[in-house]
Amino acid sequence: MKLLRINHLGIASKTLEDAMARMDRLFGMTVEHIEEVPDQRVKTAFFPVGPSTLEYLEATDPDSPVGKFLEKKGPGIHHMAFEVDDVDQAVQELLAKGVRMIDQTPRAGAHGCRIAFIHPAETGGVLMELCQSPH
Ligand code: CO
Repeated sequence: MKLLRINHLGIASKTLEDAMARMDRLFGMTVEHIEEVPDQRVKTAFFPVGPSTLEYLEATDPDSPVGKFLEKKGPGIHHMAFEVDDVDQAVQELLAKGVRMIDQTPRAGAHGCRIAFIHPAETGGVLMELCQSPH
């Protein structure tokens, strides 16, 4: 597998309104895209930064992974996502090495991406996502 770029950083925020107000105040940036991802029980707001994106995450359910993260740690960086050209193959490679995965098979992410999370116990405490863009 080859990591092509950092596709996005996922940042947990109490609300997307907070995040949007902050990005406007700090950098004069407006949101490019807002999307709900029911599978992860989050709403996401995207701010492109060069070849990468900041992906703000608001929990739609306090018991979702992002909801629990916010309760435990408060707002902040939740995960980083590496782009790969073939996420199925990447997951297979990692499983073959005995790497613990949160997702044994890729699932639907925002923007039509297919994503899989590696277990943070394998990555030095950083939640890492692999994602494959639809185009
Ligand atoms: Co992500």
